[in-house]
Amino acid sequence: MAAGKLLYAQSGGVSAVINATAAGVIETARDKGIVVYAARNGILGALREELIDTTKEAKANIAALRHTPGGAFGSCRYKLKSLEENRAEYERLIEVFKAHDIRTFLYNGGNDSADTANKVSKIGQALGYEVSCIGVPKTIDNDLVVTDTCPGFGSVAKYTAIAVREASLDVASMMDTSTKVFIIEVMGRHAGWIAAAAGLAGSAAGDPPHVILFPENVFDPETFLAKVKATVEKVGYCTVVVSEGVKDQEGKFLAESGARDAFGHAQLGGAAPVLAALVREKLGYKYHWALPDYLQRSARHVASKTDLEQAYAVGKKAVEYAAEGLNAVMPVIVRTSDEPYKWKIEAAPLDKIANHEKKMPKNFISKDGFGITAAARRYLAPLIQGEAPPPYGADGLPMYVTLKNAPVPRKLKKFAIG
Ligand code: F6P
Repeated sequence: MAAGKLLYAQSGGVSAVINATAAGVIETARDKGIVVYAARNGILGALREELIDTTKEAKANIAALRHTPGGAFGSCRYKLKSLEENRAEYERLIEVFKAHDIRTFLYNGGNDSADTANKVSKIGQALGYEVSCIGVPKTIDNDLVVTDTCPGFGSVAKYTAIAVREASLDVASMMDTSTKVFIIEVMGRHAGWIAAAAGLAGSAAGDPPHVILFPENVFDPETFLAKVKATVEKVGYCTVVVSEGVKDQEGKFLAESGARDAFGHAQLGGAAPVLAALVREKLGYKYHWALPDYLQRSARHVASKTDLEQAYAVGKKAVEYAAEGLNAVMPVIVRTSDEPYKWKIEAAPLDKIANHEKKMPKNFISKDGFGITAAARRYLAPLIQGEAPPPYGADGLPMYVTLKNAPVPRKLKKFAIG
């Protein structure tokens, strides 16, 4: 790595363990004598010259990032256009990098962020300033290609499987005289990984969840209602898991709220009440529905230890790759064995990752379309292994850290974004 500082930024939807990646980055850089700045609110902080000096943070507070959910430096959804479309933004990035002697940029995010990292990795050469850019994986959606899994997913998977197991015990207790159908909606936008993880809640035939609706399948109301009815008649109740990304025959999200983000993605959340209304209207069963929404991706108290270790490891490796002089790569997780689960980290080119989306393979979804297969279990089960609870205080609540986030003094004029 050329001498100089390292800039780290968090991007996209945050997770229960993205801060563990930040800890991996900062602790490893400190060991190597590299100064780390963080951008406030992702790439926006880099463009606005809103930088944070992490050297001002105590060692214990950086260590506490390992058990603190959310994004400690702020995150954003912001799409960088191409160099041809908006050269000014790239020139501004270089201007900020030069002003603060930043020679490495680590961008920690999912699919869209890998695209941003890939674009930034090419500007050094195009604009004549040596800077290396490394994408660091993170997304609860688990939809990055190449990597075995994405940090953040294992924890949301564990939360979801636990929530489904616990809530189903509740429903089963009163099914005779009260609720017969419980519907829980999980995140995942276009890929059904989180919904699939709910399947880990059950291990024997008849165990909940009884119905999983994947975005990989088109929603068919008739077969859905028939399956719910048959399950209630056989088991006494029915737990349904629906992915927010499920679409109807016209290709419209069941959950679409009408709002769109900076990438043009529809804001989702609301498939569960749509299904609940259908169940009431067509089958007349009493129901409850739940939308854990941000609860699922911030649930650090039930994080997967495996996920936490992977989140830390990708941050550490990203700094090591930068120190070795790599550019335009991402540290990805490579599975070397299912049982016992073994993994290692390798560098993969960002070109191969950006703008691709990993959906659930066909052989992970059962023939009737409503469950997961043994192959899916083999893939998913190791990812939720282990517990790593946060420390709890005298008030009975987890002790999370809030960083000082000391600003780096500005050197440049303001920049208008957009
Ligand atoms: O990108 C991860 C994710 O949590 C998706 O699963 C979800 O659809 C989306 O973010 C929500 O985004 P936002 O918090 O910007 O509304």
